[in-house]
Amino acid sequence: MPQRIKKAVIPVAGLGTRSLPFSKCIPKEMLPVLETPAIQFIVEECTAAGIEQVILVTSKAKTAIEDHFDLNVSLDSWLKTRGKTALAEKMERLGRLCEVISVRQKEPLGLGHAILCARPILGNEPFVVCLGDEIFPPWTQRPPILTQLVEAFETQKASLVGVVQVERSESRSYGIINIGQATLSDRPVKILSTIEKPAPEKAPSHWAIIGRYVFAPEILDELARVKAGTGGEIQLTDGMDKLAAKGALFALKAEGSRYDMGNPFYFVKAQIDAALRRPEIAPQIQAYLESLCR
Ligand code: UTP
Repeated sequence: MPQRIKKAVIPVAGLGTRSLPFSKCIPKEMLPVLETPAIQFIVEECTAAGIEQVILVTSKAKTAIEDHFDLNVSLDSWLKTRGKTALAEKMERLGRLCEVISVRQKEPLGLGHAILCARPILGNEPFVVCLGDEIFPPWTQRPPILTQLVEAFETQKASLVGVVQVERSESRSYGIINIGQATLSDRPVKILSTIEKPAPEKAPSHWAIIGRYVFAPEILDELARVKAGTGGEIQLTDGMDKLAAKGALFALKAEGSRYDMGNPFYFVKAQIDAALRRPEIAPQIQAYLESLCR
């Protein structure tokens, strides 16, 4: 019987250079979709997948993220004394969503390094990894890809990554998998190898790795053996490639919208998609969008 997955690692220690100047003092993981920060969508996605403990891998500029999941007793009582009970309860629920703890990554030395920073807390358990700047809000897919990955791990008993189809011309922005075939069904498929940000003519498929993973604890040994590359970075894909070489890494197709909050197109699309689902503003937004097309 594989262990049920209870822990999630969310690396949020990157510099967020694509989101400057916003990310100079405010973590890019706090970029909102309407009034909800990206990181809140991600932690809610984790709890929906049965995660009980979220491990944030943070750096010194990121304390706003930890504060967001803390209780704010003075705000709660201010809201309650003014009769804003529903809002007070919403804030209190947020503070009690799940256990959120943090470890520091002292220098942004890559995703693989960030995950290794959580090793003392992970022990010998399987865990999920969610990238802190990529969101799959609740309206995009039922059940969400993270829940599907966690369920697939229970039967597959091996590490899995979410993948989406991308245009070949986009391959330079992603880790691309080689599965020896062009199509993917709804079932996990063994990954033969991975290649980080290949030129289109070198891409082995049009399936790209997204920011949702489930790992057996063996990934930590693989990452510890990875040699640091340019700038001392330890790449997660190097560790994953080692798993693939052992036949111990699978891909699961993710459907529905995903938003890379560091990309201006997806950032704006997220606001529009969310607004069109908000009854009190949807007609106004729709009329505005139609006026632009006239
Ligand atoms: P990205 O590469 O998208 O984030 O990493 P970045 O480096 O912060 O952003 P850009 O590309 O310069 O704009 C995906 C996630 O991994 C975290 C980031 O905070 C982000 O949420 N990350 C990345 C770390 O925690 N540590 C790292 O060393 C690198």
